[in-house]
Amino acid sequence: MQDPKGFVTFFKAARTVCALLLMTHLIPVHGTPVEACNSLACRCLTHQVTCSYEGLTELPTGIPNDTYILELWGNKFTSITKTSFAGLSQVTDILLSDNKISSIEVGSFDWQSDTLEQLWLNTNELETLEVGVFRNLTELKYLHLESNMISSLSVGIFRDLSSLVSIDLNNNKISHLPSDIFRGLSFRKLGLARNGIMNIDNTLAALPSNLVTLDLNGNDLGNLRAAMFSGFPNLTQLKLEANGMDSLPNNLFVGLDKLALLHLDHNVLVELNRASFGEHPKLEMLTLANNSIVRIEPGIFSTFPKLRQIELQANDLTYLPPGIFDNLTSLKFLHLDGNRLDNLDGNIFRDLQNVWYIYLQGNGMKSLPSTIFRGLQMLRYLYLDDNKLSVIESGTFDGLPRIENIYLEDNPLTNITCGMLPTKNVSTVLWEISIDCTCEWKPVYDCPEFSWVGSKLECNSPLRFWFDSLDEVPKDALTCAAPRMFCFNHIGWVALSVLALLSNIIISY
Ligand SMILES: *[C@@H]1O[C@H](CO)[C@@H](O)[C@H](O)[C@H]1NC(C)=O
Ligand SMILES: *[C@@H]1O[C@H](CO)[C@@H](O)[C@H](O)[C@H]1NC(C)=O
Ligand SMILES: *[C@@H]1O[C@H](CO)[C@@H](O)[C@H](O)[C@H]1NC(C)=O
Ligand SMILES: *[C@@H]1O[C@H](CO)[C@@H](O)[C@H](O)[C@H]1NC(C)=O
Ligand SMILES: *[C@@H]1O[C@H](CO)[C@@H](O)[C@H](O)[C@H]1NC(C)=O
Ligand SMILES: *[C@@H]1O[C@H](CO)[C@@H](O)[C@H](O)[C@H]1NC(C)=O
Ligand SMILES: *[C@@H]1O[C@H](CO)[C@@H](O)[C@H](O)[C@H]1NC(C)=O
Repeated sequence: MQDPKGFVTFFKAARTVCALLLMTHLIPVHGTPVEACNSLACRCLTHQVTCSYEGLTELPTGIPNDTYILELWGNKFTSITKTSFAGLSQVTDILLSDNKISSIEVGSFDWQSDTLEQLWLNTNELETLEVGVFRNLTELKYLHLESNMISSLSVGIFRDLSSLVSIDLNNNKISHLPSDIFRGLSFRKLGLARNGIMNIDNTLAALPSNLVTLDLNGNDLGNLRAAMFSGFPNLTQLKLEANGMDSLPNNLFVGLDKLALLHLDHNVLVELNRASFGEHPKLEMLTLANNSIVRIEPGIFSTFPKLRQIELQANDLTYLPPGIFDNLTSLKFLHLDGNRLDNLDGNIFRDLQNVWYIYLQGNGMKSLPSTIFRGLQMLRYLYLDDNKLSVIESGTFDGLPRIENIYLEDNPLTNITCGMLPTKNVSTVLWEISIDCTCEWKPVYDCPEFSWVGSKLECNSPLRFWFDSLDEVPKDALTCAAPRMFCFNHIGWVALSVLALLSNIIISY
């Protein structure tokens, strides 16, 4: 080189060209596919390629042919074609969730027919699926099609999926299933929640009899028929939330001997009768929240000896029959909050020797029998806030060795005594009792165990003592609760402070 200047110019130009070339490799350009293992948009590990949430509009090229797992979620792909995954004959998992895919060409997965086990196509824009798109996928176990806009399924579409275990079609627009749609298949888990299914008889007729999990939440099923699930003796999980049911026919759930989870929340049920249920020796969870239940037949829960969780919150219960929770020695969670209960039988919880959580907040409880929590050796959390309790009898919280939290705020407690508090020698793991720090609590300062319990009593109100424990608040600073009204809740205090501030400003002018 005789001309160093020329060399420098050449060198700079070459460098720019190189940089530009490199950049087009590294940074995805709209409409141009990136090369998978040579781009910042993708990460290539052994047998795994990940190009997720990179705004890609075209599938990457150059995916190594020994890839097992192909993660392509969160991009902007709109279609999948026969060439998309050609040559990739070892892929077991394809993740295409959360793209904008509206079309899949027949034959797109032909190269994976012997290997593909999981196909994630959820959260895309699919309206239909052509028969043949899943052809020959005999190893496919998990098919995710939820959150698309699929309104109909053609017979034959799932024909070859002989290994299918689970298919998720939640959140689509499927109003009915052709009776032959799943013929010959024996998957165990099906999601059909939030479609627009109205005719459940036709739907059930199309389903494989060895189903274990069936999600029909949020459809338009209306009231059901006796024994309609008896063709599915292996069902363990049945979800029927938000379907507008106002009653359950007798024998509705007969034959479901393996049922473990039954969800009936967000319907408009008014009463629960034993005759509707049947024998469910394995039932562990029964959820009935947010219905309009006013009546529960005695003995209904006692036939489910394995019950661990009952959810009855947000109903219209004013009364619970004595003995209603008898025999429930496995129960851990009992949700009764948000009803209109004003008193309870003193023995109602007597068999709940394993209960951890009792939710009774947001009722109209005026009093509590002092024996009601006797023997609850495992009780950890007790929610009694937002009731109408004026007195808690001495000894009510005695004998709770595992109790950690008790919520008592938003009750008009007046006659507060030392005897109503748990004792140090029994409730050794007590963490917090949440209260409104009002003048009614003054007598507690003189209790023999105040040095211990005073640090557990946490002020939920008034705002100025928020996060303080009672032993941090001088006895004389406690003021008496005014009648409950807007001004004395948290929002009220803020509003009052703002008003005070404003009036100060006005006065100072
Ligand atoms: C995978 O690609 C390599 C070259 O990149 C090639 O040598 C090999 O034969 C291919 N294997 C398969 C199974 O296609
Ligand atoms: C599907 O499998 C059948 C038989 O197993 C075979 O004849 C056919 O060619 C396969 N189709 C594709 C597209 O791989
Ligand atoms: C229920 O499950 C058992 C054991 O897994 C199986 O043998 C039986 O065939 C299943 N019942 C139906 C109706 O599929
Ligand atoms: C409780 O269980 C015992 C025996 O385990 C049974 O005799 C009794 O009827 C059950 N109680 C209720 C209310 O079902
Ligand atoms: C019951 O559910 C509906 C929606 O399904 C909701 O709007 C309402 O707030 C719920 N009621 C309670 C008391 O939780
Ligand atoms: C307050 O409680 C104590 C002990 O339980 C009782 O002796 C007393 O009569 C009660 N006072 C009022 C006003 O209820
Ligand atoms: C716990 O202490 C109280 C007094 O502080 C006492 O009356 C009670 O007998 C004690 N209970 C046990 C189980 O030691």
